[in-house]
Amino acid sequence: MTKPFDTQIVPATDEHLAKAAAYLKAGEVVGMPTETVYGLAANATDPAAIRKIFIAKGRPQDNPLIVHLAQTEQMADLVREIPKAAKLLADAFWPGPLTIILPKSARIPSETTGGLDTVAIRIPAHPIARALITACGFPLAAPSANLSGSPSPTTAAHVLADMAGRIPIIIDGGASTVGVESTVVMVSDDTVKLLRPGGITVEMLKNILPSVEIDNGVLHAVAEDTVAASPGMKYKHYAPKANVLLIESSIEQFRSYLNQHAKAGDYALVFEGEEQDLPIPALTYGKKEDPDTQAKALFAALRRIDECSARTVYARCPDKEGMGLAVYNRLIRAAGFQVLSLGD
Ligand code: TXA
Ligand code: MG
Repeated sequence: MTKPFDTQIVPATDEHLAKAAAYLKAGEVVGMPTETVYGLAANATDPAAIRKIFIAKGRPQDNPLIVHLAQTEQMADLVREIPKAAKLLADAFWPGPLTIILPKSARIPSETTGGLDTVAIRIPAHPIARALITACGFPLAAPSANLSGSPSPTTAAHVLADMAGRIPIIIDGGASTVGVESTVVMVSDDTVKLLRPGGITVEMLKNILPSVEIDNGVLHAVAEDTVAASPGMKYKHYAPKANVLLIESSIEQFRSYLNQHAKAGDYALVFEGEEQDLPIPALTYGKKEDPDTQAKALFAALRRIDECSARTVYARCPDKEGMGLAVYNRLIRAAGFQVLSLGD
């Protein structure tokens, strides 16, 4: 059992950044803002510190962490090679919400990579995250700062809700601007495989490397007996306690489905402006035509669903283009892959 902390949310002043860096240097875990979601940071090269991340999150040991750097140069002694395709993507999208999986060097302990021979690397764009990495002088491993299985946190208050007593300090950097996690890609000589859609869209990746492939686990459940390209794919994710059903339909069909099936205690998760004329209370997640706003609002909406003690949640389905693919990927997982297509 770890020592319980009196977890503090602190503003990102120089004094508090120095305090957070001191905790990290002492092998502790710190809540850190990034542009995607908040992270639970610790020294990526220190196995004992990494084990504390897994304990704080209740995360399965075989689910590897992303290693965050402030500068591309820091990568040189953490990986064995950098394929040309990885260099092109790094030049185009770092700093930013892209994670690239590369063969790891001996400096990265197997605790960080869940026993894999590869390491996931990202250079975040958030100035506070970068300042913290620079102040530490070592790379920071950071999964999303939620309890394993829960929606990722996009505010310091979300982190506190999950991590109170488990970590000493959370740096408040305001609401995350992207709202869903980074895009994860696996890169070999010139092929690129998308393992998790996120803040950098497939369309953006294809502008740099037209041959990007989408792994089957992005849109479909990974069967129990197969080896997932990314271990995170096989775990239950982003799931509120409510039963979520994702409905692919027009708003008219959605309304009439709810009129027939919804019961007291159920909630609807719809786009802004669609709350009227529904038989049950509704929460919103962004604008129908603007997937960036959906990404920004989704995880907070999933957390509010739990605060309302919703029983069943009927959710409107996003379009799958641009950032919509990342939103869809999170929602099908929140729904345990229950998608109902009502057709035209
Ligand atoms: O935006 C983000 O990526 C956030 C912020 C804090 O940077 N971090 C984040 O970390 O989402 P996490 O641990 O919640 O998700 C990392 C995902 C997991 O699905 C994990 O399985 C996968 O990346 N991953 C990490 N290392 C990997 C590796 N070596 N090979 C395959 N997948 C890997
Ligand atoms: Mg996560």
